[in-house]
Amino acid sequence: MNFKEELITLSAMVNDYLLKHFDNLSDNVSEKKLIEAMRYSIMGGGKRIRPVLTLAIAKMMSKDVSEVMPFAAAIEMIHTYSLIHDDLPAMDNDDYRRGKLTNHKVFGVAMAILAGDALLNEAFELLLKSATQSAENAKQFAEASLFVATAAGKQGMIAGQVIDMESEGKQTTETTLKDMHKKKTGALIKASILAPAICLGASSEHIKALNNYSENIGVAFQIKDDILDVESTTEELGKAIGSDAKNKKTTYVSLYGLEGAKTMLNEVTQRAINDIDIFGERAWFLKEIAYYIANRTH
Ligand code: IPE
Ligand code: IPE
Ligand code: MG
Ligand code: MG
Ligand code: MG
Repeated sequence: MNFKEELITLSAMVNDYLLKHFDNLSDNVSEKKLIEAMRYSIMGGGKRIRPVLTLAIAKMMSKDVSEVMPFAAAIEMIHTYSLIHDDLPAMDNDDYRRGKLTNHKVFGVAMAILAGDALLNEAFELLLKSATQSAENAKQFAEASLFVATAAGKQGMIAGQVIDMESEGKQTTETTLKDMHKKKTGALIKASILAPAICLGASSEHIKALNNYSENIGVAFQIKDDILDVESTTEELGKAIGSDAKNKKTTYVSLYGLEGAKTMLNEVTQRAINDIDIFGERAWFLKEIAYYIANRTH
């Protein structure tokens, strides 16, 4: 099957699910402004890489994607909340995201904070509701949900954002940079791959291979994000370029230069691809998406 077609098919499934979910909220929740702010960002045209990875794991394991759709949607909600908060004046202070004004520019800072909070909460409402409905694998479902919670939290994504903010304007070591990337971006990408694998009962050998793969594509993803911040255009990226330099961030580019960052990107991408050799042909999509992450233009 063709990679681009499969990518479009899987991201369309995610979009349909999210659209229905948020249509339902719009009908049933009285705080219309809040739901409008949540919808503005979640339906605002992200690449959907994390939820696509989640669905791809189910397909690789010959399972129905609907079994892991709550994880796909919840992880995209968590990711979207993190972007709303990341763009706030107190953080990266950015005006554009996904080709549109940032949430706080449209709804104000207070509502943007609350919309982010509500998306985070909605993610776990969805997971817990789904866990109560999954009679056969409720324990595995709960374990996978715990994995998501941990990845998004104080030792994962939020910790990474803390390191990012505390490193602004400072000379940062390679160790700190790697730790920051692993957490702020890597942790949620890892959850998007391991949560469905745990939920669907993957073997420990398969989990190990996927764990290594996810660590490498997580790093690759953020190296590429750092490169695009320097090399892309605002139109192509849908968010302002030069945000990292503006905020004196430590990035792969600031530490190793553009060429150094590109060399590392190729190395980690190749490592990610080797990590999943154990799956043979079945891993075709995961291999292709690793190249896509490295070669993407936005
Ligand atoms: C951007 O993530 C923020 C990072 C964690 C690097 P994406 O590049 O996946 O953003 P969207 O979802 O496509 O907007
Ligand atoms: C954001 O990293 C990571 C999270 C939101 C967890 P960046 O600050 O580099 O993301 P962009 O470049 O604004 O999308
Ligand atoms: Mg940031
Ligand atoms: Mg940012
Ligand atoms: Mg960035």
